[in-house]
Parts: sequence; C-alpha cells; structure tokens
Amino acid sequence: MTPHVLLPFDTEYLPERRADVLIVGGGIAGLSAALAAPIKTRIIIACKGHAIDANTYFAQGGVAAALSHKDSVERHFDDTIRAGAGLCDRESVRVLTSEGPAAIEALLKLGVPFDRRGRELAFTREGAHSAERVLHASGDATGRVIQTRLLEKISSLPNIEILPHLFLVDVLLDGGRAAGALFLSSAGALSVVRAGSVILASGGFARLYRESTNPPGATGDGVAAAYRAGAELSDLEFVQFHPTTLYLAGAPRFLISEAARGEGAVLINSSGARFMKKYHAGADLAPRDVVARSILKEMQKTGATSVFLDMRPLGRFLGRRFPTIRRALQSFGLDPARMPIPIRPAAHYTMGGIRTDLNGRTSVRGLYAVGEVTMSGVHGANRLASNSLLEGLVFGRRAMRDAVAAPPRKSRRLAARLTGKTDGPDVDVEDIRVSLRSLLSRNVGLERSAESIRESADRIDFWERYTLNRQFRYPAGLEMQNMLTLAKLLVRSALWRRESRGAHYRSDFPHLDDLKFKRHSAISKK
Ligand code: SIN
Repeated sequence: MTPHVLLPFDTEYLPERRADVLIVGGGIAGLSAALAAPIKTRIIIACKGHAIDANTYFAQGGVAAALSHKDSVERHFDDTIRAGAGLCDRESVRVLTSEGPAAIEALLKLGVPFDRRGRELAFTREGAHSAERVLHASGDATGRVIQTRLLEKISSLPNIEILPHLFLVDVLLDGGRAAGALFLSSAGALSVVRAGSVILASGGFARLYRESTNPPGATGDGVAAAYRAGAELSDLEFVQFHPTTLYLAGAPRFLISEAARGEGAVLINSSGARFMKKYHAGADLAPRDVVARSILKEMQKTGATSVFLDMRPLGRFLGRRFPTIRRALQSFGLDPARMPIPIRPAAHYTMGGIRTDLNGRTSVRGLYAVGEVTMSGVHGANRLASNSLLEGLVFGRRAMRDAVAAPPRKSRRLAARLTGKTDGPDVDVEDIRVSLRSLLSRNVGLERSAESIRESADRIDFWERYTLNRQFRYPAGLEMQNMLTLAKLLVRSALWRRESRGAHYRSDFPHLDDLKFKRHSAISKK
C-alpha cells in the first residue's frame, strides 16, 4: 500500500523558502512556464539535479510546428490525432497545434538559432508527419540549443531562482490545496518551499525500463508525488519505444534521431535487406510504434539481437546534419558514414501521467502539471514525433498564466506522521531498481500479455511489502520507492486495457476494441 507521504515532517522545524509559484523541473516545460510569469512574480525552479539533466537537453530531432508555407495547422492537427490512435483530446490538440507557431516565434525572438536553408527556416520530416514541419538547431542538438538559450534568458531575470539538487519528496497540502513542496538535498537535509501554486514539470518515467533513451533522473517522481497528493493519473500503460537506439555492449541506449530516416537513412536486417515495406506502407517513416514492433518481429524472425540503421545514403550531408550522433557513434568505434549501425527499440517517452486540463490544472487545487509529467490529451496512445518540446512550450505558458491568478495565502504549520517504520537489514536499493527495470523491459515492454503483466504485478507487490514502509534519508531510496509505485500503477493499467492501441500492444488482445476501450485509464488514490 502506497503511504500518503514518503517521509514524516513538521514545517515548524524545517528551513523554508517562499515563492509565488514553485516549479519543479528545469526542462523546456518548466522554463517556459517561468518565462511566462510577470516580472514581479517570484519564481523558484527546483531541479532534481542540474536543469540540463532533463530529457529536453538530449532532444535531437526537433520541435514540430506548422510554420512552413507548404504546411498548415489543420494538417498538423490531423497527423497528431491520427498518431494518437483514438485517444487524443481534440481541444488539447487544437491548442497545441494552433498556438505552436506563436510559441516558436517567441523562441526566435529570444534568439534561438534554428537551422536555416538560406534565409528560410529549415524543416525536416519524421515518422507519421504528412509534411516537413520539424525545426532543428545545430543539426541534431535541438533540445540543447533551446534549453541553453532559455537558461541564459532566465539567468538575466531577477525574479527567477533555480535551485539544483533538490529531490521532490512530496507536494505539501493545506486544506486540500497545494501550498508548496518538501525537498531532500543530496546531503540528506529536508527543506520546504512554500508557494501560492505549484507547477510540476518534472518529466516522465521511461527510466523504469532497462532499455531506455532517457537520462537517469527520468523516474517519474512528480507523477508519484502527485498521486500521493490525490491527483488523478491517466494512461500510464502507454509507453512509447523509440525504434532506433544504439545497441552495443557497454554503450547507453543512445538515440539515433528519427530525422535520420526523414533525411534518407533506412533500416536493414542482419542479412542487409530492407524490411519495413513488408510491415507498413509508410515503410521507414511509418508511425513509431509500428516501426518499433516491426523491428522486434524482424529480430525474432532472424534470431538476431538487433537490426541496423544504414545512414550511408546520406553521404556527405551526414556529418553536417547529424554531428552529435556521428560524434557519439565514433566514440564507440562506429562510423555511420561507412557502416550500418546496430540498433533496437528502447523506452523513450511516457504518454500517461497526471491528468490536466487546457491550463495545466490537475485535480488538486493549486497543483499544475506541464510537459511529459502529464496526460494532457495531446498525445493519446502514441505521441507524434517532436510534439513534446512543443507541448512544453505551449502548455508551460498557459499553466503559468493560470497559476499567477491565485491570491497569496497565509502559511500554516503543516506536518505529517508515518507509522510502521521497519527496522532490519538495509535494502539494496540499486538491486531493486535494476531488477524492476529488467522486469518491465521483459514483461511490460513493446509487447505484453495478461500472463507477463500478472507475473510483474506479483513481483512488484512482493518488493513493495518490504520497501515502501522504510524511510530513506537519501534521494536514491525515495526514487526507488517512486519507481515501484509507478510500476504498480502502470502494470494495473496495462492489465485493464484488454486491446492493442498505439504504443500498448497486447499479444493476447492484438486488435483495437473501440467499443470497450476508446477511453482513458484513470487512477487516483482517493
Ligand atoms: C528523435 O529525434 O527521433 C526524437 C524526437 C522525439 O522523440 O520527438
């Protein structure tokens, strides 16, 4: 049973900071929210590590927006809805696609140097897009370039303070309303940030999987904290696997951007044959879930542990367009200009999360959420590539505009107790993490079935019994507890959805079942 808080506390005895709005997370969603605040609004951005430890920093492909004269908002809207496999919220997608161009214009005004062809912005195509609409910067370093510029801007503003290395323990509630948050430093010290409103922008939980493109911090701490605070979660079963990540002993599952296929790279199997046309008319640029599952099938057929991405068709363009990827591959002795690269799918993005409305409001008063931490309705069962940076930009701004409208409140003493602390030998936190990540990759990954999901549920239940009642005074222990909590909820949602839709593929229910399941899964503690 998940406790209502991770650690006992009493604000009377804890150091306290104050802000009008507290933002948790320093990726594109959190930074965009901060920049939308009026200059008199005091903002604190608390980050688990440094701001650049977020997924944003590693985003390669780019950011999608209907800005090209060969494109339209309507087409971007249609592509997003189609990719979402029946579960997108039309109003949310309307907001995303119609406010997208203005959000990009704002970045251009801030001086973000998007790549250009001559004087015109350069657009590329990614899977399931019907037009070239993906903007990029420094070739394949889009997230890094945008985030760096946002951080530079923020450092010039007196009203925004970034606090690194603060682990979110719990959201503080006062009379059922979010009133700040409790944090644990890497040195083990608890502290409080009080705020009129709290915006969670702390990212998703794709690191629950052993095979993952995400940085180590992507463990869904914000989603778990929101759940403990009573917020409604949705669609946790939808985990997107990126088809092309480096597969090499000792190398991280380094992402090789879908834009590489957009520019002419192709997938080949271990015999050197192209195979995607067999599986989908869109071939190498079919929707992401289709490509990922086709790769799995091809690996099962040939008994190989990977397929290959052949980037040689890009010729000389390769080094100029994908310098980060080329450098990373070369550091592992692989030159993509000369040889196909071994790849396989890895968990990349979590479509589910805290349920929010068009202004980022959650079901808890005063608590907002933006970006990957949410289920905002824009991605449905399968996110369209490069819509996530856009989501952070658009909804970050909207959430802040709503959050600053809250009147300031008086701070009251807040405290929580925890009973049932277990004494006994230490738990090996790292061992549980590794075991959990392997379990999910094996049993609740690209393909799952009632049997594999149930086996995971039993194992997670067992681990929970002797871990969730312990009180860890260091972030890794709390992080592991959050991972177990989310894994349990993910597994429950995956078991409930007895159909295959978007990124959720059940081998025992391989078809879509609109009649029973064209709806969101929903979980809350209340
Ligand atoms: C990529 O560059 O392929 C990733 C883009 C995304 O996940 O949106």
